Order: sequence, then structure tokens, then C-alpha cells
Amino acid sequence: MSVQVVDLKVEYATNPLGLTTLEPRFFWKSKSSKSNKLQSAYQIQVASDRQLLLDQMVDIWDTAKVNSDESLQITYQGKQLEAEKHYYWRVRIWDEEGIVSEWSEIAYWSMGILERSQWKAKWIGRKPEAHVTKETTSLEIPPAYMRKEFVATKQVKRAMVYASALGLYELSFNGNVISPLFAPGWTDYHKRVQIQAYDVTNVIKQGAQVFSVILGNGWYAGTVGFLGDRVYGARPLFSMQAKIEYTDGTVEEIRTDETWKVTKGPLLYSDMIMGETYDATLELIGYQEAGYDDKEWEVPDTRPGYNALLTGTIEPPIIVAEQLKPISIQKTKDNTYIYDMGQNMVGWVKVAVQGAKGTKITVSHAEMLNPDGSLYLENLRKAVQQDHYILKGIGTEYYEPKFTFHGFRYVELIGYPGEADLDTIIGQVIHSDIPKTGNITTSNAMINQLFSNIDWGQRGNFLSVPTDCPQRDERMGWTGDAQIFARTATYNRDVAKFFDKFYIDMLDCQQPSGAFTDVAPDAGWIRHKMWNTRLNWHAPDNPGWGDAGVIIPWTMYLMYGDKQVLESNYDASVRWIQYLHDMSDNLIRPDYANYEDWLSIGSTTPKELIATAYFAYSTQLVAKIAEIIGKPDDAAYYNQLFVDITKAYQQKFVDEQGKIYGHTQTGYVLSLSFGLLTPEQQKQAVQYLVEDITERGNKLSTGFMGVAYVLPVLSDYAQDDLAYKLLVQEQFPSWLYSVNHGATTIWERWDGWTEHNGFQTPSMNSFNHYAYGSVGEWMYRYMAGMETDEQQSAFKHIHIKPRLDRTLAFVEASYESLYGLIRSNWKITGDQYELTVEIPANTTATVHLPIDGKLGEYELHNLGSGTATFIGKLV
Ligand code: BGC
Repeated sequence: MSVQVVDLKVEYATNPLGLTTLEPRFFWKSKSSKSNKLQSAYQIQVASDRQLLLDQMVDIWDTAKVNSDESLQITYQGKQLEAEKHYYWRVRIWDEEGIVSEWSEIAYWSMGILERSQWKAKWIGRKPEAHVTKETTSLEIPPAYMRKEFVATKQVKRAMVYASALGLYELSFNGNVISPLFAPGWTDYHKRVQIQAYDVTNVIKQGAQVFSVILGNGWYAGTVGFLGDRVYGARPLFSMQAKIEYTDGTVEEIRTDETWKVTKGPLLYSDMIMGETYDATLELIGYQEAGYDDKEWEVPDTRPGYNALLTGTIEPPIIVAEQLKPISIQKTKDNTYIYDMGQNMVGWVKVAVQGAKGTKITVSHAEMLNPDGSLYLENLRKAVQQDHYILKGIGTEYYEPKFTFHGFRYVELIGYPGEADLDTIIGQVIHSDIPKTGNITTSNAMINQLFSNIDWGQRGNFLSVPTDCPQRDERMGWTGDAQIFARTATYNRDVAKFFDKFYIDMLDCQQPSGAFTDVAPDAGWIRHKMWNTRLNWHAPDNPGWGDAGVIIPWTMYLMYGDKQVLESNYDASVRWIQYLHDMSDNLIRPDYANYEDWLSIGSTTPKELIATAYFAYSTQLVAKIAEIIGKPDDAAYYNQLFVDITKAYQQKFVDEQGKIYGHTQTGYVLSLSFGLLTPEQQKQAVQYLVEDITERGNKLSTGFMGVAYVLPVLSDYAQDDLAYKLLVQEQFPSWLYSVNHGATTIWERWDGWTEHNGFQTPSMNSFNHYAYGSVGEWMYRYMAGMETDEQQSAFKHIHIKPRLDRTLAFVEASYESLYGLIRSNWKITGDQYELTVEIPANTTATVHLPIDGKLGEYELHNLGSGTATFIGKLV
């Protein structure tokens, strides 16, 4: 067989459960041992039962042969999909010679609950204790434990569970945890709550069964952001309905209602930002088993319904992705130890301990150590990265927290009975399930460490939403950070589902004015206890932050070919541009924005310049988007608006010598990258930019808004040489400065710690902020040269244009695109380069290589799928 169809996905996921979109999208890859393989047609079949497909009795959708080379984003167009049903599908393709493949293996998906009226379960929680008032903090509201027993009388054909919470829940069935970490994920719960679906057919047995739940405050009712707790609601609630289909055709439903039992247990409190205390002497032994005596437990507090949209889960689950062993331990005094995990990580540690009942141990976490070797906790602000465990005193006890997480490299064990060693703790690395898709290795070990730091920054912060940092009392979905890092993020890891959810978070908090906010999800307003007043959490329309509302969907189109996002986001993008337009003075945006080129070093770019540049950029993206989704009139309008903004920009900010107002690196790179200058001004701008960088000794001065554009702009304007100089710069400020000083993640600030000043101001000093890691984009797109074609996005047509440079002896890069693996490996030996390229079936590539060995000019080689090696001379 010349081609095989593999890796079938629906809505970016393998066999997803509980979808609520009526038009799910299909994806597959083709695999072939031969080169130059293309798809010329496909056929999809969907049936309500696996056997029907095998028997050729296709009852739901048969596309017949469709002449098309598309293997991504194929929208379902069959019979109306029904709630709570499973669908089975397979696909076959025809290659470029018209030879048909075998049918793929059968994949499936299931639909969730589609109508509010189908959600019959009540929302249950624990009645507030007598002392609880409006002013009670969430820490005084312990997680609830709940249970429900029932008997499955007959043989089960299928058992599905749908569950969610306002808060966080851990759901177990017959003692096995079936929910992911931190379910149901963070959304603006006033507007939208995600429902998770679980197939428990294989866990259910005939006879007595138990559902048990631990319910935490989480983002809903616990501390969230820096302004307080109980932001969305006063206390958490859980809701679940299970549908058990027996082989005799009967159905039984189990729902949360007054017949469940509730109590409190060993978790005295558990808070995302404030840590946790677990008293093992209070464990409810056996409550997850049938037959447990819950007579003393309380009747739950019930609410009939909840007035927000209940939708299928879009985001990927949060998982323990890896375990890390500490690399060193030091006993600092009796019963106290400090561990080094060797990596700034996010999650927690699992501790093994033996000791007398009632002994309390504390596990404290920090990213750095003070000069005296103690934990550096000053940068946490109000966050408390401490978990406490009270021993029950029986054998070896294992403890790990439930509804909290920490950002740390160092762990202090306090009050530890007996001798601790390297096996006493193990790090649990958690993040949203975003499998690795990109890799880069070079001949320079420091660059490799930088690359690793970028990836760890992403892993630490992609947790339900793209957060700014994982340690201090913030951990919010800052949109500016997310957009500047978005392209790097999409190369590094499969974030299709992750961003598919995040752009909805941004939509949910778009303001009536059209402004996109600077954090998402939002909570509309919050009650600020200290000032006893209502505050808007967000500030709307910060340039570069609000623009994420356009840039992230655009990135999803580029990397995943996702036109559906462009369509569903289109009205919002139009309203955003209109808002910016209305709030401008002759197309120049005012300078009220708060953040400017956030945390830039040694230069200040005028706010109105950044604001107008981003206004132009978003406008141009909306023009492109309009074109792509078939709105040529709109495209013409926004193209014209872009030209008009550009003219206003030049008039206002560019002087006769081509100097740009503020004369900063960020000013030049934004102007060049967003296409805001005349050809003459471009030349001048490049010259000023190069001069500025060189005068600073090949150093940067950019903050969050400029950083991702510096190296790409230099490369675009034939300055690869300088781009490499910045990349390998080790002196402060630079990427490698932090690497040189032991960083294992990307720091929030260039000067988070310096030899000359020590730690920066602690109120703003995270060591795990990914924004400066956006240099990863240049490494993939320029250094390795793997770029998609805007017209044939998602790497259907690939440009391979590596920036060969003697700074590095070799670069090996790969990216697992939705079509399959792309590889670009180059090495330089003497004056000879060798480039090996691999591209997947059903794609083509144009390889750009130096003409006559001269860098900066390129000749093209066309490549069909497969591998090719190019050897040439460098001048
Ligand atoms: C966050 C940032 C964010 C910024 C806005 C900070 O507190 O940590 O990453 O973008 O506020 O300026």
C-alpha cells in the first residue's frame, strides 16, 4: 500500500468524549514510505456503531469520494448529531495517482449534553457552617467530601458520566480517580462552565458502586489573581449525571441531588494560591468503598440549576506530565532539609514520611535561594507556597496536595521526623496536556539550555489558561504575554485545543465597547475586601494585550489552518478595530495605556507609538482574515484603513531622517515588522536599529512588546549576523545572561537577578515568565527556517529557509505539524554546508538556499514529501 491514513482526530483530539459542537472537524495524517505522496481525494464514513462501518451499513454520514487534498479541518456535514451518542468513523484517501488506500482504523467521538433541559442534575455543596459570613475568607471553607452509592442490577452496555463544578472537583468511581487535575478548568464561570465526560464502562461492575467527590474552592471560590478570593461565587458546588445503559435496553440515571451525602474531611483548606493543610488523622477511611457508613454525613445544600452556558470541555486536561527526582539535599538544621529539584518546575512534590500521629510537616517551595541558602520567598507577594501535612502515624504515609500548585526549584521540608534523603520527595510536574511538537538542538550548549528554558516556561504556565507566572499571587491569563509567545508556543507544543479554549475566554470578556481585556478569563468585577469596593479586574484595550484577541486566532490559522476560529472570532475582531478607531485621534492612538513596552531595559518606547503600531497590525490581520473567510469588501476596507493608519503613523512618528519617535529598538522593530514604513524609511530604520544594538555592545533594550520581533526583523533585513550576535550574547542584558547564571526557565525580567544588584524588586520578580522566551519563534522560523505559507497554512506548503551561520556548527530542528513531521537539520564544516530536510506526505516545500554561497540571497528548490539533502559552499 503506497499510503496509509493514521492519527485520526476530531476537534484536535483523539477519540474525544462529550463534544457539544454540532459540526465537529476531522483531521488525519497520511504516511508513506515513498516520496512525493499527495492526497487527491478522501472519503469519510460515520456510523452509529462500529460494526455498521465494518458491514458497510453507513447510517450517519458517507461523503463518498471527495476530490480534495485537504486532510485537516474537514467539517462534519452529516445527519444531525444527537446528545450523548457515540459516533464511529474512518477515512480512506486516494493518492496523486488515484490509488486508493486501505480504510483507516476506526476512531470515535461522543456527543455530550446539548440542551440545558437535558442537564437535570442539581448542583450540590456543603451547607455553610454557622460562622461563615460574606467576610469569611475562602481558607475557612474546607473542601467538601461527597458520596453516593447505587447498585447496578444488570449487565452494563455502556456507562457515561458527565460532571462539572463551580470550583474544582476530583471525582472517583469505585475508588479510582476518573477526573483530570483541576477539573473543570478555568473559565469566566459567570458565562461558561465546561462539562467533562467520562466513559466508565470498563470500571463499572455488577452490584454496589460508589461515586465519591472532593470539592475544592479553586478559581471559582478560592483566591484567584491578586485581588482576592470568592471572586466568582461564595462557595463551590458540584454537579454530575451518569447514564448507565444496560444490555437489555433499559437505562438508569444517577444524578447529584439531595440523596447524596456530604461532609468535611482531612483537607482543612486547599487554595490555588495559598497552599493546603491536610490532617491525615481526620481521614474518612473507606468512604470511597460501597458499604461505608455515611449516616453521620450531612444532606447537601442543593441548587436546582446554574445560569451560565454549560458546554463540552474544549481545553485539554491538566495532567501530571512528568516526575522529577531532586538532585541534591541539604540538612539545614534538625528535621529540616532543603532540596534542589534541578529545574524550576510547576506542580508539587509527593512526600513519603513515617512518624508519630499528629506530627506536622511543612513543605515550602521557592524558585531561588537567598545568599544565605534559605528559600527566597519575597517574590511571592501574598501567595503562600506551603503545604502542611499532619501524620496519622501508620506505616509510611505519602502526601501530595490536591487543589493547589506551586512554582519552585527548591523545596524545604520542615519538621520532618527521621532522616530524609533524595528518595523522600518526588516532583510532580503538572500542566495542561500539550504534547511536545517541536525540538531544537544546536552545537551550542547554552542555546540548548535556553531552548529548554523556553519549553519549561511554557510547561509551567500553560495550565488551563496561559498564565503569566506560577508562583506569586497572580497566575492569570495575561493576554499580552500570551500573544507575544503564541507563535513559539504553537511550535513547541500542541496547543490547538488549549488556544481553542483561550480565544473563547477572550471572547467571553470582550467589553460591550469592543475592547479586549488584558486578562482572560475575567470576572467582570470583583469585590475588593480591603477597599470594600467593586473593582474591574481587567483594564481594557492595552495595546499588545487586547490585540491578542486578533493575533491568537490568526496564529491558530497559520499553524493549524483553523478558519473556524477566524470565522467565529470575526465579529469580535471587527468590534475591536472599530473600538480602536473610535478611540483614536486621526488614527493615532492615545498614550493612556498602562504597560507600554513592559519591563524594557534602558529605553522607553512612547506609549502612543506602540498603541498605534498595534492598531495598524491588528487592522492588517483583520484585512487578511476577511479575505480568507470570503469577505472581500471588508478586506478592502481594512486594507485601506491599514494604509491610512500607516500614513498617519509616518506623519506623526517618523522624522525626515527616518528617525522614529523615541528612537528605541522596539519602535524600530514594530514599525518594520508591521510594515508601517516607506521603503526609504525601512532602510533608515534598519540602520538606526543596527546602530542602536551595536552601540549598546550587541545588546537588547526591548520589553515584552518588542522582544519577539527583534531577531525576525534583523533576519528579514539581511542582518542575520547581528541576530546571531544577540542570540549568543552572554553579557547583561541578554537571553544567555540568565542561562549563564543557572536559569532553568525564562525570567520575567532581564535583571531578575544580576551580579551587580542581586535580586530585583521582589514585588515584580518572577523566575518563570515565558514572554522573553518568544525568541523561540525566531529559532524555529529563521535559525532552523521552518515556516508555513500564509496561503497554504498549517504547513501544507512549507518554506525551509534556514539562516546558515558559522556561529553554530549545526542545528537540528523538528516540528510535528498537523500533516506530520518536518525536519530541518543543517551543519557547517569548513566552507561547506549540508542541509537535510524532511517533510510529511501531502505537503510540499520550497527550500531557500544561498545563491553562490552568498548569504542573504536565495535560490529555490522544490521538494515533494520525503527527505532531501542539499550540499553547498558558503562564502
Ligand atoms: C504580569 C504580566 C502582565 C503585566 C501587565 C504583570 O503583573 O505578571 O506578565 O502582562 O502585569 O503589565
